[in-house]
Amino acid sequence: MKKISLTGIKPTGELHIGNYFGAIKPALDLANEYNAHYFIADYHGLNTMKDPEELRATTKHVAAGWLAAGLDPEKVIFYRQSSIPEIFELTVMLMAFTSKGLMNRAHAYKDATAKNSEKGEDTDAGINMGLFTYPVLMAADIILFDSDVVPVGKDQVQHIEMAADIAQSINANYGQAVLKTPQAVIQEKVAVVPGMDGRKMSKSYGNVIPLFAPENVLKKTIMHITTNSQSVEEPKDPNASQIFQLYKLFADDNEQSALANRYREGGMGWGEAKTELFRVVNRCLSPMRERYEAIMEDTPSLEKILQKGAEKARPIAAATLKRFREIAGVNSCKN
Ligand code: ADP
Ligand code: TRP
Repeated sequence: MKKISLTGIKPTGELHIGNYFGAIKPALDLANEYNAHYFIADYHGLNTMKDPEELRATTKHVAAGWLAAGLDPEKVIFYRQSSIPEIFELTVMLMAFTSKGLMNRAHAYKDATAKNSEKGEDTDAGINMGLFTYPVLMAADIILFDSDVVPVGKDQVQHIEMAADIAQSINANYGQAVLKTPQAVIQEKVAVVPGMDGRKMSKSYGNVIPLFAPENVLKKTIMHITTNSQSVEEPKDPNASQIFQLYKLFADDNEQSALANRYREGGMGWGEAKTELFRVVNRCLSPMRERYEAIMEDTPSLEKILQKGAEKARPIAAATLKRFREIAGVNSCKN
């Protein structure tokens, strides 16, 4: 039987090329050799998104984004997290095996408390239980489908290790392989896509290149990438520039070596480097943008695809849950 690849994306903002190269593309590549389950993690989004219109809109955006990027719903089980109630039942069961200390060590929670301390506020100010227990819900997403591999960016690896820890402690408790222990898969080449300012591209840094922006917005964004003050004539180190790091993601080998030489020779200014970057980015994104726009125009078809995906996912989910409930003794009074 084929192994299972599973991943989810939170609908918390506009998709950017970091999401595409760090999460969407590697996942779609894996869908050729694995049974794939890909979804929109809307309950994870609810932790921070309290405006219903916005949450609905970003959920639709992320769903359309997956499809525009090439997800084939006939081949991949594709759904909205909130359509699978079994995930939430499993979350409760996993809670019973998750130490609070493990959650205290989760990066997202630690960062949030550290920020509060810096500001001299109560360490837990503004932190809801959804954020604190975030890794348990994510573990349930993964474990429920007996996932073997989870394609994600580097920042998510800790969460997958936690899911594996939780599954292992359950297996150890019952002395049998009740749940599968998942593994993260990261593509080293694109482990961290740099943003406009050279830091990791992230919506929380406001340094993103959006995936489906209209062509003129894409161009304007690329022309605003931060550069140093080197003159046109000066030779430049391609590897020290985020423009070239981004270029490598979109250009073929010949284009890459030709442009690297031009950087090293001098005589090419940052404006020209950005124009060349725009050319290859737009070449890759234009067909996706067209598909995205068509999908966004047809909400009923999109809904149908997500419903069908949920119908395929739920029996698989129910089987895992039944197995675990029986072993845990919460299903009936019979032996
Ligand atoms: P953001 O940092 O913009 O909030 P998310 O945390 O929603 O992005 O990330 C969604 C997925 O995209 C995750 O799997 C994450 O690892 C991946 N990802 C996000 N930004 C990048 C990046 N700059 N490089 C590589 N992968 C990324
Ligand atoms: N936490 C992931 C992120 O922030 C999204 C996510 C939720 C996820 N559930 C998942 C990723 C399960 C992989 C597997 O990007």
